[in-house]
Amino acid sequence: MSGEQRELTFRFLAEPTDVNYGGKVHGGVVMKWIDQVGYAAAVGWSGRYSVTVAVGGIRFVSPIRTSDLVTVTAKLVYTGTSSMHFAVDVRARDPMQESGDRLCTHCVIVFVALDAVEGKPIAVPAWKPVDDDDCRLAEYATKVMALSKDIEQAVARLRPG
Ligand SMILES: CC(C)(COP(=O)(O)OP(=O)(O)OC[C@H]1O[C@@H](n2cnc3c(N)ncnc32)[C@H](O)[C@@H]1OP(=O)(O)O)[C@@H](O)C(=O)NCCC(=O)NCCS
Repeated sequence: MSGEQRELTFRFLAEPTDVNYGGKVHGGVVMKWIDQVGYAAAVGWSGRYSVTVAVGGIRFVSPIRTSDLVTVTAKLVYTGTSSMHFAVDVRARDPMQESGDRLCTHCVIVFVALDAVEGKPIAVPAWKPVDDDDCRLAEYATKVMALSKDIEQAVARLRPG
């Protein structure tokens, strides 16, 4: 049964093992956090095991340093038939400061819910935009994914072999 929870936030400290030689958190570690929060949000919304099918528009805006307090938020902004599109923001700040959260990374990540028996895509509960912000976010997600699909096709044409 679906839990239909639209938004999910993880909050934790960046650890020394997350950091690269320049003292900043690895991009791959940030992508893992994005995938984890997206997975938990997708399962929460659909009540089904879900897999990542695509990530679009990822941008590393500012670095995260060891011991920063990190907040990763996934917000459902569009549903297709089996797909759930989440806008994800990664923010960080020095935990000794009460304010100063800065946007570090943002993207759209798409999960597909799978049927437990055959492992095939299965319909998820539809999410309907309620206000103007929701409509803007849904449009943003569909445009990012259309661009990603265009890039995917262009790369497939260019790739040797
Ligand atoms: C996800 C997977 C099951 C989809 O299988 P498929 O045969 O392509 O299924 P479909 O063509 O029916 O597509 C399923 C959904 O994915 C969406 N999708 C496919 N490619 C996409 C892309 N590049 N961007 C966004 N959505 C995409 C489709 O639009 C469709 O959504 P809808 O049902 O809401 O219309 C399959 O591609 C897969 O197993 N991929 C590997 C997943 C994985 O290992 N992830 C990493 C670890 S979790």
